[in-house]
Amino acid sequence: MHKLRPPNGQAKGKETMKAEFDYSGCNVFVAGGTSGINLGIAEAFARAGARLGVASRKREKVDAAVARISDLGAKAHGYSFDVRDASAAEAAIAAFAETAGAISVLVSGAAGNFPALAKDMSVNGFKSVIDIDLLGTYHVMKAAYRHMKRPGGSIINISAPQSVVAMSHQVHVCAAKAGVDMVTRCLAIEWGPEGLRVNGVIPGPIAGTEGMARLAPSPEARAIVTESVPMRRCGVPEDVAQACLFLGSEAAGYVNGSIMAADGGWVLASAPLDFGAFA
Ligand code: NAP
Ligand code: COA
Repeated sequence: MHKLRPPNGQAKGKETMKAEFDYSGCNVFVAGGTSGINLGIAEAFARAGARLGVASRKREKVDAAVARISDLGAKAHGYSFDVRDASAAEAAIAAFAETAGAISVLVSGAAGNFPALAKDMSVNGFKSVIDIDLLGTYHVMKAAYRHMKRPGGSIINISAPQSVVAMSHQVHVCAAKAGVDMVTRCLAIEWGPEGLRVNGVIPGPIAGTEGMARLAPSPEARAIVTESVPMRRCGVPEDVAQACLFLGSEAAGYVNGSIMAADGGWVLASAPLDFGAFA
């Protein structure tokens, strides 16, 4: 049972409104959950009482994330593997399920990004992002499939605005994340009959993350990005985590195949014509 509080009217869009969820007794695995947005998601599930598995390539990041989550009073298990390696993903997720039991929520969010024009990007640069974001997400889902709780399991793929908005310097990420969204939708159809829901979340620009540091490295760039968000603020990991807590819960029991934006409306505003400004 997940305990939900209705909005209290205090947030007025300026801060993150928190709903309360109870994930005690639930196992949650977060691929790419050792930094940034995905670590924020893992911590939110931990605070809600879940047992966590977190994974990424670098052992030191995995260990630090496990320590942070344990400090919240949750049980946490760390796995070091590259999502491009399907059998490594399979072994790690099987090990988590063997230790913890069936997985209630899988969050698949490992990704890579750098800004580059297609004409300047090597074929391997394009391929690396496709391999991590698209194939990696698919590998993680395939690996988790047989360990998911059913009925009632929930898979959440972390997408990006690039999945729906074409952007310069981002052809690799746009192609990869558009693919991720289609994997989400296709497997929502294939796995829905088993009581397994598959959804996606599109974070907007999230302050203090690696993704923002790479795409908007200067304060000036970050100010322009902030102004381009209809809510006039960048997000925080908790904004994305709240969407994931909802999608993983019984409250979202009929939500399947949805790609939910937690982006302050950024995707809508990305065609930057303001007709009001011409009046
Ligand atoms: P981040 O901190 O760099 O998170 C990426 C995570 O994935 C890290 O834990 C990283 O750890 C892991 N990872 C990367 N490549 C991997 C691989 N090949 N195998 C296994 N793990 C791998 O970045 P972030 O900015 O928070 O982004 C997190 C997610 O949100 C991504 O899916 C991104 O596309 C999405 N997103 C971000 C923003 C934003 O504003 N930041 C906006 C929209 C969408 P290791 O280096 O240890 O592998
Ligand atoms: N501009 C153009 N090409 C770049 C690049 C950049 N800034 N950074 C990497 N590449 C190219 C490399 O040159 C290489 O191609 P090549 O072999 O033809 O030279 C290819 O991308 C792979 O780079 P490599 O560093 O070997 O890959 P990796 O697998 O170790 O790392 C990345 C993958 C490139 C995505 C790396 O940036 C990464 O690990 N990112 C994870 C963190 C992150 O991006 N977080 C934000 C998420 S939104």
